[in-house]
Amino acid sequence: MPDLDLVFVCELQDIPGGEARAFDVEGYNLAIFNTGDELYALENACPHMGAALAEGEMMGGSVCCHEHGWMIDLLSGEALERDWAQVATYPVEVQDGKVYVQLG
Ligand code: FES
Repeated sequence: MPDLDLVFVCELQDIPGGEARAFDVEGYNLAIFNTGDELYALENACPHMGAALAEGEMMGGSVCCHEHGWMIDLLSGEALERDWAQVATYPVEVQDGKVYVQLG
């Protein structure tokens, strides 16, 4: 049974390793990244001009925004080399093959 403050997002199989998907969950637009080893949840809006980060390309522990190439760290949400720019990140948990996030 998941913790009460965890919100169900999707089945783990809905996000293949090496890919990302966007989800609208309780008013939050989330980008969930599956590196193959870890899942990361970020606000799905680039801190530069708001492009959908889920459409970017994962490179190591970062995502390269598909619009203008800013690199966003998946763990911290910080734009690399522009640490004044950041998106929100959310804890992710997988329980019984289901993906949950902790919002707010
Ligand atoms: S909107 Fe992401 S780099 Fe410009």
